[in-house]
Amino acid sequence: MNLIVANESHFKYAEDICDTIAESAKVRGTGIAKRTPEYIQRKLSNGNAILALDGDKFAGFCYIEVWGHEKFVANSGLIVHPDYRGQGLAKSIKAKIFELSRAKFPDAKIFGITTGLAVMKINYELGYKPVTFSELTDDPEFWKGCQTCKNFDVLTRTEQKMCLCTGMLYDGATKKKAEETKKMNGKAFTRLKSIKESLFLRRKEEKSKP
Ligand SMILES: CC(C)(COP(=O)(O)OP(=O)(O)OC[C@H]1O[C@@H](n2cnc3c(N)ncnc32)[C@H](O)[C@@H]1OP(=O)(O)O)[C@@H](O)C(=O)NCCC(=O)NCCS
Repeated sequence: MNLIVANESHFKYAEDICDTIAESAKVRGTGIAKRTPEYIQRKLSNGNAILALDGDKFAGFCYIEVWGHEKFVANSGLIVHPDYRGQGLAKSIKAKIFELSRAKFPDAKIFGITTGLAVMKINYELGYKPVTFSELTDDPEFWKGCQTCKNFDVLTRTEQKMCLCTGMLYDGATKKKAEETKKMNGKAFTRLKSIKESLFLRRKEEKSKP
């Protein structure tokens, strides 16, 4: 299995990708934003998509979308062909697109909305946290993408505050801060430990003096 950053030479897979997304949505019975082959081709051409190929056969796909003037990016359109499911391929694709997102947009928060347990699990393992929609981009173009989902009426009724999808967010800045605090706490603990040890040893030495 080859996981590659897609380019124009992969346009021939656009139709396959669209059909697999549409078919899977039908089977699941849940809502999904519809994509046209032209839309997928745009994603394939701008260096923001990961394609999984088994030789020449399409196996999986996911792409990056940029929102709110690069403050946010979303990893969207994850699809694994039914022939390749249950083997950890979605996990590998998501890890690769996550890595690409962080390399290309280091200051952006990475988010996604999903009804799928598999995606929630994968995102959680990557460090995403579940959040309310208020934490996600307010870029109207992103939310326009939900118009073709069969649950769009729910989103409209709640004034975009909630829907059947769960919002998940990876905030690199918060994560970095948490890691620094952890490191600081570690340093403080080591120092406290050494102070206690020296006090304890001194007392022990004093006691053992004749
Ligand atoms: C969802 C999908 C991408 C998963 O692909 P996959 O390659 O089979 O997933 P993986 O093998 O990498 O599994 C990743 C994790 O999700 C779990 N998982 C996979 N499919 C699942 C399902 N249908 N329901 C619940 N959990 C599932 C796996 O057990 C694994 O969890 P683990 O790490 O605890 O073992 C694939 O089924 C698909 O393309 N479905 C249709 C499109 C879709 O739903 N896309 C998401 C839209 S938001």
